[in-house]
Amino acid sequence: MNPEAMTVALGDRSYDIFFGREIYSLFQEWICRFYPGGTVHVVTDRNVASIYGDDIRQWLAGIPHDVLALPPGEERKNFDAVREIYGFLARGDAGRDSLVVAFGGGVVGDLAGFAAATYLRGISCIQVPTTLLSQVDSSVGGKTGFNLPEGKNLVGAFHQPRAVFIDDAFLLTLDDRNLRAGMAEVVKCALAGDAELWDRLLAVGGKWKSLSGEEWRWVVRRAVGFKASVVERDERETSLRRILNLGHTIGHAMEKSGGYGRLLHGEAVAMGLAWEAILGMKLGVTGGELVDRLVSLLIGMGFPLDDPGVALTSIASAIGMDKKRMVSDVDLPLVAAPGRCELRRVPLAEIRRELPGIRAEIRERSVAGELNVPAGNAIPEESPVSNLVHVGNEVYEIRSAEENAASAVPAEAEPVIVEERAAAAGPEPAPWEVTAGLAAPEPAPPEIPAAPAVRTVTLADLYWSQGERSTARRIVGEILRDDPANLRAQAWLAARTGDDLVEAELLGFLETMAKEYGYDLS
Ligand code: GLY
Repeated sequence: MNPEAMTVALGDRSYDIFFGREIYSLFQEWICRFYPGGTVHVVTDRNVASIYGDDIRQWLAGIPHDVLALPPGEERKNFDAVREIYGFLARGDAGRDSLVVAFGGGVVGDLAGFAAATYLRGISCIQVPTTLLSQVDSSVGGKTGFNLPEGKNLVGAFHQPRAVFIDDAFLLTLDDRNLRAGMAEVVKCALAGDAELWDRLLAVGGKWKSLSGEEWRWVVRRAVGFKASVVERDERETSLRRILNLGHTIGHAMEKSGGYGRLLHGEAVAMGLAWEAILGMKLGVTGGELVDRLVSLLIGMGFPLDDPGVALTSIASAIGMDKKRMVSDVDLPLVAAPGRCELRRVPLAEIRRELPGIRAEIRERSVAGELNVPAGNAIPEESPVSNLVHVGNEVYEIRSAEENAASAVPAEAEPVIVEERAAAAGPEPAPWEVTAGLAAPEPAPPEIPAAPAVRTVTLADLYWSQGERSTARRIVGEILRDDPANLRAQAWLAARTGDDLVEAELLGFLETMAKEYGYDLS
């Protein structure tokens, strides 16, 4: 299957997202082409390394590289892990021309991306997301960072990757729970901005696990396409990008109040989508029929829509407290229709007040026994919100110090780092030279095809910046041959019209086009 590509157009931070099955040859080719002399530093986690460790070595055979496998889990997304990555980069002599490869799920992507954003004031990073959630959400858009005990993602940086490689073969080794968790972000994208994807999800319903490879690729591409289009318009989340927080205001509160690690992020987002849809209905934005459809879709997919072990009081006090800032209202994304979302400023106090009614609606709309409640979590009597104190628009919860401590991010276990050094230490190994002790069995230099397998304007830019102008021109010429209306490719050529060679190239291209379409060029 030929890989496909999509560009995130962000000026000089533009990059390509490549999609396909087993696209490691493209991944290898890309690294060889654009980082021929620099070292490659792969950051992954031990779960991923246990499945793909050998593959990583094989895909990078002949390229000097090291691999760092961190302990897995959201509770390890902390500064200790970032410091480990800094040490790994320092020991591996990473320089400005080095490349960090974030190979894993969202935690690995955030940590490796942040380390790359800050090491030597910023080095390049590519994302190879291995979970559905990271493929459709965290690998694209440049958000990187880590958690503090005081809150999630409190430290971070925007650092766009240089490329993203989305290989659906990784989904084959994902367990059902993690795959399902990723579907929550897919449903979010459909609701927020892609009605066609929404219709497709409704048609598939509970049979989502038996989607064919081609259908998976379509679904992932649509979700990523929507996210990329939002990021292109509001990279730094000053306004529009907030619609990607659909389901996350209540979802994050659920995740935090249950104690991180209890619910997967995607499971909390699924709950948040359902709860916020009901809130949208109460606020007169979301129709009742859409809420019904969403609730049945999520239940059909196997999502729990409530965590009855979590008191409403905890959810209420966690809402809007992600960043430990006392804000009084949020720009809440609400779904007006499938694929159409609007941001509405809503006082947090109002959201908190609606929680008991929302929980009651969720239970009413989910026929008993269909709530997919995790085992051992019987639905208790409704928790009163009586220990919440309303002061003006603010709500404060009164609870014991022990309870506060219990709901904080769990204390970190001693991190265990597995580090592999695939490229030999020692005097200046030449590119492709493999020194003794290298784990890769076949150290032959990778073949670099004369032309890239996938052609995009961003690739052309990269070739151009490296002095390979004729390859760059050929790429753009081929893009225009396949898609004469491609505005970016036209602009690329137009921007180089002062260059005689480019004019000759353009003329050549026009002649080819004229011949192909049977026109006279005069
Ligand atoms: N995950 C939401 C965003 O990237 O903005």
